[in-house]
Amino acid sequence: MMNTKYINWSLETGFCQEELQEAVAIIQAGGLVAFPTETVYGLGGNGLRKEAAKKIYAAKGRPSDNPLILHIGKMEQLDGIVKVIPQAARKLAEAFWPGPLTMVFEKADCVPYETTGGLDTVAVRMPEHDGALDFLSAAQVPVAAPSANTSGRPSPTLAQHVKEDLDGKIDMIIDGGAVGIGFESTIVDMTEAVPVILRPGYITREMLAEVVGEVVMDPALMSVKADVAPKAPGMKYRHYAPSAEMTVFRGDEEAVISHINDLIKKYVEQGNYQPEEIGILATEESAMRYPMGQVITVGSRKEDNAGKYLYGALRQFDQYAVKIILSESFYDSKKNEAIMNRLLKAAGQHVIDVEMD
Ligand code: TXA
Ligand code: MG
Repeated sequence: MMNTKYINWSLETGFCQEELQEAVAIIQAGGLVAFPTETVYGLGGNGLRKEAAKKIYAAKGRPSDNPLILHIGKMEQLDGIVKVIPQAARKLAEAFWPGPLTMVFEKADCVPYETTGGLDTVAVRMPEHDGALDFLSAAQVPVAAPSANTSGRPSPTLAQHVKEDLDGKIDMIIDGGAVGIGFESTIVDMTEAVPVILRPGYITREMLAEVVGEVVMDPALMSVKADVAPKAPGMKYRHYAPSAEMTVFRGDEEAVISHINDLIKKYVEQGNYQPEEIGILATEESAMRYPMGQVITVGSRKEDNAGKYLYGALRQFDQYAVKIILSESFYDSKKNEAIMNRLLKAAGQHVIDVEMD
């Protein structure tokens, strides 16, 4: 165990310069600093040093074949870490960087295989977060950063979540408050003739296609079965998972609510579970409709930002120590692909389509 140092960043006050220098010194010395981004908190280390990558895998308890994303603060940093920058990638960078978009390139020789999980490609992203950009620019090296959670747990959307998982295992945590988006960046493979989405995110296929024409989805993302291997190695793991068994109910909102209530009634009557052992993932509008069970909401359906609260809600179920979680579906008008992807992963692809009767 080590003593993890906590420092603060806020939009109003920025960094205390001395503390920022301390964070930079840690990165340059090969240590680990967790930092906020607009998507989720990242666990950063020097992306050009293999020892730093090894420390990241150890702290997260993550399989080392799962490659890390290199975070940059300035466009010039891209030249040094990739072999070529395809024209389409330049256009996407212009349109969406800084922002929740990660692009995969052929890696330059200076990027160690420890960082890329043995691949000849490297994933790069410039986050849209003033604190992250200040930190990354000051660090002067590309910062390798996976999400700052223990492998298999939901990604952190608050510094408190990072603390729960990594306190005593890393050198520093930069507390920048709640993140804006709440789920990980869109990953696009730019090494193919037609860009391929490896992980859906806030930047949708339509948004990408508007800038570069045709963009396709990795076929493995569409398959509920595990028979097609995804091209982003991390997508094969049961990620984002709460401890309890989780099931997602899809269908008409009213039908879903009454189906979940019927199930709870049955479980309790048959003695399968106590009411407090049952978690329900709902919205502010539907929360009152569940007389039994522990309800957690992902905000209001009207506000259309379930993604922002999803991971925090899943972590809260862990704290309540529920044994099962019954979840509504959250169709978020534009980002629905990304949110359903995370929800289904949390549920280990366990979905039930509820018919209206
Ligand atoms: O929003 C985000 O992307 C956050 C913040 C911290 O930036 N980061 C994040 O990192 O989600 P991580 O390590 O949790 O997820 C990285 C994903 C994994 O699924 C990994 O397999 C994939 O990116 N990946 C990384 N490098 C790759 C490569 N060269 N080729 C294909 N997939 C890659
Ligand atoms: Mg992750």
